[in-house]
Amino acid sequence: MKTIIANWKMNVGVRESVALARATLLTLRGRKQVPELVICPPFVALCEVHKVVARSGVSLGAQDVFWKDSGAFTGEISGRMLAEFGTTHVLIGHSERRAHLGETDAMVNLKVLYALEVGLIPVVCVGETRAQKEAGDAHKVVRDQLVCACASVRLRSRDRLYVAYEPIWAIGAGEACTLGDALEMHTMIRSVLSKLCSADQLKVLYGGSVDGENAHGFLREREVDGVLVGGASVKINQFKGVVEAACEVVVAQAS
Ligand code: PGA
Repeated sequence: MKTIIANWKMNVGVRESVALARATLLTLRGRKQVPELVICPPFVALCEVHKVVARSGVSLGAQDVFWKDSGAFTGEISGRMLAEFGTTHVLIGHSERRAHLGETDAMVNLKVLYALEVGLIPVVCVGETRAQKEAGDAHKVVRDQLVCACASVRLRSRDRLYVAYEPIWAIGAGEACTLGDALEMHTMIRSVLSKLCSADQLKVLYGGSVDGENAHGFLREREVDGVLVGGASVKINQFKGVVEAACEVVVAQAS
């Protein structure tokens, strides 16, 4: 099953989120075979978007989580709070949080451990900068991020782990990674995590300037379990193209 995750970032308020969630559901209307679709609105819109997607088969994700259930942590949101809104997935370690909010590998690890403990599916975001890529360090950087993010992680049989490979230079850039480079990275990610989880517990997604035009090229590859979409997920015509591409692949795989 292919997965599409829509990361709305801080781009839509509550009212816009509700409208966008409704429009997103319409992209699936009339289709029998559909991908797993996860919408990640801003925290303040989770409650209202939950009402829209409830009973639709579309899942709800959060863009971040704190690593404790409750306490004196001003401004933070716990996984148990997220679960109250039916949240099932959570982005962890997005490069924008690492770059602008001081999120470290150690914090990412605490969040991954906690998300698993409370039954959320962690979507661990990893990726290299352009300078690291040009220096030939991309694989080492991503491997190190993964090893730190997953330190002490023990998956139970019901647990799932998603990894989104998002080269930082491709995010919001209008220029996606080449398919060849993405596939090599996905293979490396699987091999690093092979001791930690079985193949059916792990999904490896690509993110970074995915849109209606290039989504099919990524999604038709066996190595690519799905895509994480930022900018194009808040432009419904673009996102419709991504959903259509995923549906095509899902139908082709089933036949
Ligand atoms: P983008 O963002 O699709 O706008 O490149 C992806 C992401 O940041 O998750």
